[in-house]
Amino acid sequence: SKKGFIFDLDGVIVDTAKYHFLAWRKLANSLGIDFTEVQNEQLKGVSRVKSLEKILNWGNKEVSQGEFNRLMAEKNEDYLSYIYKMDASEILPDVHRVLNLLKEHHQGIALGSASKNAKLILEKVNLLDYFEVVVDGNSVTKAKPDPEVFLNAANALEIKPDNCIVFEDAVAGVEAANAAQMISIGIGSKNVLSHANFVFKDFTEISNDFILQLINQ
Ligand code: G6P
Ligand code: MG
Repeated sequence: SKKGFIFDLDGVIVDTAKYHFLAWRKLANSLGIDFTEVQNEQLKGVSRVKSLEKILNWGNKEVSQGEFNRLMAEKNEDYLSYIYKMDASEILPDVHRVLNLLKEHHQGIALGSASKNAKLILEKVNLLDYFEVVVDGNSVTKAKPDPEVFLNAANALEIKPDNCIVFEDAVAGVEAANAAQMISIGIGSKNVLSHANFVFKDFTEISNDFILQLINQ
């Protein structure tokens, strides 16, 4: 039967966390705030606004609304300088195989991302054509763990939430998928993503048989 397969972007399809890290670190340092990889981990799946709020908090800094907006724009401009250089070689291992298998079996394929840059990134890595539906940070009002992003994707695919499967690398994303009554598949560590229905280190661990079972169940 036709199921809806909803993919998070950052950390699932491509590893943009390293570019977010470079851009946030540059911004934080320019404000005299330290920024480590451990802190960057805590920004996975977190919106741009919430990320800057956290960084300013860590540095005990307060800024005006105008300055806050300027800092967000500056970070994004720097982040985009990395994004513009991306190409298909940055697609994570076996993502193509899984997408091709889903296409072959005429499954619904959607993106469910908090990023406002999602469409641009999919274009850069040449994957936009696979996605029937793209729900991103431009169309969502409530951030993950709220289920809105995934419910909107299911709605646009015209597939019931309990017939949808979500791939997520962030704890908040797994919570959002669970709250949407969808099957959650964590991509990453079992310890971190303990609330997911299934967890795999990456797509190389996900067999075609496993995908076919999801389609046929
Ligand atoms: C994803 C990433 C976050 C990022 C957010 C917003 O959820 O995991 O690290 O902050 O998207 O991304 P954006 O491209 O709109 O700044
Ligand atoms: Mg992610």
